[in-house]
Amino acid sequence: MKGVILAGGLGTRLFPLTKVTNKHLLPVYNEPMIYYPIRCLVNAGITDIMIVTGGNNAGDFLRLLGNGKEFGLKHLNYTYQEGEGGIAQALGLTEHFVEGKKVCVVLGDNIIEKNIIAPVRAFEKKSGGAMIILKKVPDPTRFGVPVFDSKGGKGIVRIEEKPRTPRSGYAVTGIYMYDNTVFGIVRTLKPSKRGELEITDVNNAYIKRGTLKWRTLSGWWTDAGTFSSLLNANLMVARTGANKVRNKVRNKAG
Ligand code: G1P
Repeated sequence: MKGVILAGGLGTRLFPLTKVTNKHLLPVYNEPMIYYPIRCLVNAGITDIMIVTGGNNAGDFLRLLGNGKEFGLKHLNYTYQEGEGGIAQALGLTEHFVEGKKVCVVLGDNIIEKNIIAPVRAFEKKSGGAMIILKKVPDPTRFGVPVFDSKGGKGIVRIEEKPRTPRSGYAVTGIYMYDNTVFGIVRTLKPSKRGELEITDVNNAYIKRGTLKWRTLSGWWTDAGTFSSLLNANLMVARTGANKVRNKVRNKAG
C-alpha cells in the first residue's frame, strides 16, 4: 500500500505562527509536526510515501526531510498543492504516484500515541473499499462525526462534517485507507461551503456504495491545527514520552 501525507494549506487557524512557515513544520515538543505522520506510516510498514505540500515554504520540507533517511527511508516523493482546495483535492494530486494501488492517507497535523499496524493489515487483506479510523473525543463538533445505524450501532449511515449537534461521541481521525476508485470519487466532488473538496464527502460516497469499514484507535490521538490542539499535542507527546525510545537513541549518538 502507498502512503500519502497531506501537508498543504495555509494554516490560517494558527496565524501568525504560520505567516512565514508551513503549519506542518512547526514544533510539536521536540520534533517538527510532519515527523509524526511520517513515522505513523513507516511504523505500519508503509515506506513508499508522497508528501503533498503547499504555500510559500514547500522547499523547506525538502531541506528538513531530504530522502527520509531519519526514518530509515531511501526516498521520499513530493508534490505541490496550490491554494486551499481542501484535503480531497490534495489527495487527487497523488493519483499518478498511487498508480492503481491502495493508499493510506494521513493528515499532516494528526498525531497518535501508538500505531495503525492492525487496521493497515486488515485493509491490506480486503479486496477494496475504504477504511476510516475513529476515536472517542470530548469535542466532536470540531471534526467529521459518524452517525451510526439505529440497530446495533455497527454500521455508519453517514458522516457529518463539524455538526452543531453531533450524533455520536466519535471523531473521524485524519487517517484514511482507500482503494484506487477514490480518485474517480474525488473527480465527482463539488466544493463545500468553505470552498474546499471535503474528505467527508469522499467517505460518504463509500458509505453509499456500502464499502466503508471502520476501526477504533488505541492510545491517544490529536490534531494540531488550532492553538489549543497544538498545545495539547505538545503536552501529550511530552507527558507520555511517545517518542522517548527514539530520543534515547538520538541522545546517545550525541
Ligand atoms: C479534517 C476533516 C475532518 C476530520 C479532521 C481530523 O478537518 O475535514 O473530518 O475529523 O480533519 O483531523 P479540518 O481540521 O481539516 O477542518
